[in-house]
Amino acid sequence: RRYSRIAGTGSYLPPRRLTNADLAAELATQGVETSDEWIVERTGIRARHFAAPEVGSSDLALQAAQRALEAAGLEASQIDLIIVATSTPDMVFPSTACILQHKLGNAGAAAFDVQAVCSGFVYALTVADAMIQSGAATRALVVGAEVFSRLLDFKDRTTCVLFGDGAGAVVLEASDQPGILATDLHADGKHVGILCVPGHVSGGNVLGDPLLKMDGQAVFKLAVGVLEEAARATLAKAGKTDADIDWLIPHQANIRIMQSTARKLKLSMDKVVVTVDQHGNTSAASIPLALDSAVRSGRIHRGQTLMLEGVGGGFTWGAVLVQY
Ligand code: ACO
Repeated sequence: RRYSRIAGTGSYLPPRRLTNADLAAELATQGVETSDEWIVERTGIRARHFAAPEVGSSDLALQAAQRALEAAGLEASQIDLIIVATSTPDMVFPSTACILQHKLGNAGAAAFDVQAVCSGFVYALTVADAMIQSGAATRALVVGAEVFSRLLDFKDRTTCVLFGDGAGAVVLEASDQPGILATDLHADGKHVGILCVPGHVSGGNVLGDPLLKMDGQAVFKLAVGVLEEAARATLAKAGKTDADIDWLIPHQANIRIMQSTARKLKLSMDKVVVTVDQHGNTSAASIPLALDSAVRSGRIHRGQTLMLEGVGGGFTWGAVLVQY
């Protein structure tokens, strides 16, 4: 059987780091009140990175992709598929994946974006896995890259403290050994309104609101339930149980969502990779950023079983069970 397996991981955070205190001080100058205490208690976030105005998702993606290629011992020219998960593309079109492909210098490789907001990375990984299994691709670069700071309403303290910018990448390659064991993706479009950026471009103008809107409590309730279902579905497909999970690598939105999911899967928090404290919510970039940080710190070892889980706007959700 032909599988896909992770050959290397990489990630990148833009250098400008704001602690909660830094952000609170900036917001205070605009009359918006928040505190480190409130943000840490409700979300677990302590700091986030914001990209400089001239830096786009493709720039962050390039850095993460180069690191993943280096970790895999591969050149960009050996990649035949590039998928970028992003909701903050450089342009309306062409795709950020095409811009990344040009920056990497591997003309010819198939390249396209996947837009599933915070579930984007598990969606992209699932598509790349299916294309490798079918023989349509052999070596894929799968990237989550976001500049969510561009979408934030810095007058809305209920959302602007939650997000950050960054990118993470994996190289996925064909193998006769199991790598990706099972995937499970879902969406329910009736929840569009609880998390969205409703504006769109028309006639040279942005029509509607170009900034992020969220009903935090509605998102919280939905997220916890669907994450458990997706995790259980992948375990069932792979013939495994909760006890087989070595590491849970959830989308990093909020520590309380992660704690609830871990409880439901009967996992202690020392089996959960947590980076939300240092990165905030980086949407499609959060899972590959967390994965790469755990790989590089030596916590994740070859052969271990990893549960990757995403949830986000759409509403979309999904899980990918990996033998690393
Ligand atoms: N600083 C200080 N006070 C604040 C802030 C802030 N940044 N934000 C809100 N408050 C105040 C509110 O005004 C409110 O005050 P009031 O009681 O006087 O009206 C109070 O805090 C409580 O507000 P709630 O919105 O009820 O706070 P809640 O406990 O629900 O926490 C939060 C809000 C953190 C957004 C929570 O709902 C949550 O975690 N939701 C999940 C959403 C999420 O993680 N989204 C990420 C994107 S989606 C995704 O990636 C899956």
